[in-house]
Amino acid sequence: MPNKVLGSFVKKLQRKKVRNKKHRLAVFASGAGSNAKKIIEYFGKSNAVEVALIVCNKPDAGVLVIAEISNIPYILIDKERFFRGDHYIDELKTEEIDFIILAGFLWKLPSELIKAYPNKIINIHPALLPKYGGKGMYGQFVHETVIKAEEKESGITIHFVDELYDHGKHILQVTCPVLPGDTPQILAKRIHQLEYEYYPKVIEEVIMNESASSEE
Ligand code: GRF
Repeated sequence: MPNKVLGSFVKKLQRKKVRNKKHRLAVFASGAGSNAKKIIEYFGKSNAVEVALIVCNKPDAGVLVIAEISNIPYILIDKERFFRGDHYIDELKTEEIDFIILAGFLWKLPSELIKAYPNKIINIHPALLPKYGGKGMYGQFVHETVIKAEEKESGITIHFVDELYDHGKHILQVTCPVLPGDTPQILAKRIHQLEYEYYPKVIEEVIMNESASSEE
């Protein structure tokens, strides 16, 4: 094999070696964690991606029970350190976290953390952004507002995270009907089904695309 060809072959192999390590996700959640659970289950079967860490800001959040049952390490974060300290960036880097996945995480991310993970933080919002997003628009409030506005459609928005609430570049939106007689609870259930179906797959796709383009 000529030297040049051999060189590029070795380079390819070296890259393969690096890629043999799974992409490590930190899932940030503040609540029940049903999306976190689906993401954990989905990547439990993956050779390429793993949920390596759960990050939570509420000691009584359901997601911590899910982390324990799933045997995934978690950290309970402190407000002062998150917003005005090191923002947990060192800890995330020590844990070799590649992507941050927000799944019902209610604190706005500090800009230092966003800068440390450019285009590697993904959020899901239970409505069709840019409508029904922003500060205070979470959980039942979103669905209540959508129903009050007599919308015929709602859905999910999966997007990259930037420094504004619910604002970054959209990756995927999926719609569902808002039906006569819907309560916020009924609509939430319909939307959760969409989230479970699409969020893990979209996360996987983003990671695979990013990893393919960083190898070019
Ligand atoms: C989901 O509806 C998600 O869209 C929003 O927060 C909710 C979290 O629900 N960001 P769960 O804790 O995953 O059940």
